[in-house]
Formats: sequence, C-alpha cells, structure tokens
Amino acid sequence: MGTSGAAPAPILTEAELRLLQALVYQECGMHFDERRTHFLQDRLLRRLKECRADSFYAYYRLLISAEGKQELAQLVENLTVNETSFFRHKAQLDLFQKHVLEEMLKRKQAHREYSVRVWSAGCSTGQEAYTLAMLSADALAYYYLRNPLPVEISLPKPLVPPPWRVEILASDISYSVLRTGQEGAYNDHQMSSVDYSFRLRYFDKVGDRYAIKKALKEMVHFDFHNLKTEYLPQRNDVIFCRNVMMYFDEAEQKRLIEKFYRCLNPGGYLFVGHAESLLGLTDKFQMVHRDSGTAYQRIEVKE
Ligand SMILES: C[S@@+](CC[C@H](N)C(=O)[O-])C[C@H]1O[C@@H](n2cnc3c(N)ncnc32)[C@H](O)[C@@H]1O
Repeated sequence: MGTSGAAPAPILTEAELRLLQALVYQECGMHFDERRTHFLQDRLLRRLKECRADSFYAYYRLLISAEGKQELAQLVENLTVNETSFFRHKAQLDLFQKHVLEEMLKRKQAHREYSVRVWSAGCSTGQEAYTLAMLSADALAYYYLRNPLPVEISLPKPLVPPPWRVEILASDISYSVLRTGQEGAYNDHQMSSVDYSFRLRYFDKVGDRYAIKKALKEMVHFDFHNLKTEYLPQRNDVIFCRNVMMYFDEAEQKRLIEKFYRCLNPGGYLFVGHAESLLGLTDKFQMVHRDSGTAYQRIEVKE
C-alpha cells in the first residue's frame, strides 16, 4: 500500500495559539475570541505552509524576527475581513449628508473656512470613501445653490465649487484593498447598490466595469494607516470607522475612540457601524440620532 507522502499538518497547541493571538493583537488590534479561533487557525496554517515552517512555534519565531516583518504584514492582511459596499446603511448616510454636512458647511462658512475633511478609516476596497465623496459633492452643490459666493467659476464647472474644497482620506491596513480602491473600477455585482443617477454622474463604463470618474477620484486619497498606532491623520471634520472596531476588544476600542477624539476638529463627528456603539466606552462624545441614523459628536470641554 502506498502512502501519500504529504507531511501531516502541524498541530496548533494552546500555548502557540496564545502567542500568535497576542502578536496579532499587538500588531493591529484584532482580537480573536473563541468564535473566531477557527478562522485564525486556518489563516495561520495557510501562511505557515507558504513559508514552509514546520511548526507554529517556528512560524511565530519567523514573525518576530527582523526578516519576518513582511510576513507579519502578509499575515495581518490575510486576517482582515474586507466586506463592504457602496451606500452601506442608508439612514446613517442620510444623517451625514442632510444634517451633519449641512450644519458643518454653515458653521464653516460663518468662519470663512472652506475646507472639509472626511476620513474613511478602514476603507477596504474604497466603496465607502467614494460614497462619501459622491454624497459630499452633491450636498455641497445643493448648499452652494442656496449660499453662493462671489467667486468666478470657470467652465466646465468643477465638481466642488470654489473656494470650497472637500478631501476624503481613505485608509486601511491592507495594501491589496488600497490598490483596488485606488484603481476605482467595480463590477456589476459591486455596483448593485448604486442607483442610475449616481452611475450616470460619477462613473464611466469601461469594458464590463464601472470606473470612477476622474473628478470624483481626485477628491479621494488612499493611504496606509494602522489604527493600532498613535500616528493617525489629524484635523478631520468627520470620521467614518464602520465595521472595524467590532474586530477589536473593549480595551482597544476605548484606545481607538480616544485617538479619534484627538483626530477630530472641534465639533467633529464619528460614525461607527450598525453593530457598533460608543455606549459605555467614552464620555467624550454625544450621540446624535435622526430617522434611525446614528453618529457621535465630539463634546467640547469648556476651559
Ligand atoms: C469589514 S471592512 C469595513 C469596510 C467599510 N468601512 C465598511 O463598513 O463597509 C474592515 C476593514 O478594516 C480594516 N482594518 C482592520 N484592522 C485595521 C487596523 N488595525 N488598521 C486599519 N485598518 C484595519 C480591514 O483591512 C478591512 O478592510
């Protein structure tokens, strides 16, 4: 009788699992509880095989070595869940477009400030950032119609009427999703939640894909940022961090909310996912709730 010749898969011991869980947590904040251990184990085994390590401990030693930095990034990339879509959670987006932006534009114009900065933190393949860009461009056009400024506008009309400027920062820990976002071309399935008026105005059909038009693309800037680190983009008016915190434990969520507080301008807003909440995690934000949409506004401490 012949044998298959393939070496049996190494067994992951409890001690090795703890070491690897701690390393991943330290690197990116992702916490794998019992419900997600199986997923972690599966991804670890894939990477271990790829690196031809003969045990999980050997793989762990590689990850903590100087030569293992790239492999650690690769492992983290393999552990991320990148599910996303255009116009995800309409009620929250309505709150952003109709109330938050409207209030913010008025407040800014009163101070002769004409720039708006929105950050999609954990942007995955870019659909959230481009959704925010489309909604901001439309909101600003409508606001400008009612509040024009004595500025000569050249033809063809720019997407954002000067002197207004809208910058959308889209960041993630995974380089591969950032590349897809930067490319900005989506298939039929990904486009299913984009209605025809948005398709017509903001996309070009290129082959069998829908490519984001240049003017919209120019509003969005993709960059790598690990939310676990202290060095995060500052001076944001609005932060969207949706369906990211749910992979962190409570301690890490609290640290992240604290960092977001510092990354926001006074009066700025934080939007988190439908299944996420700031309740019990901070007293530095107040909840804003309208028509089933929820956001959190920075509370300003009076000196
Ligand atoms: C489920 S997707 C959410 C995408 C989008 N925000 C949405 O709600 O549709 C979560 C994203 O968070 C990213 N992520 C996870 N941990 C991160 C970290 N420490 N720093 C930055 N991004 C992270 C993942 O790579 C993934 O693309």
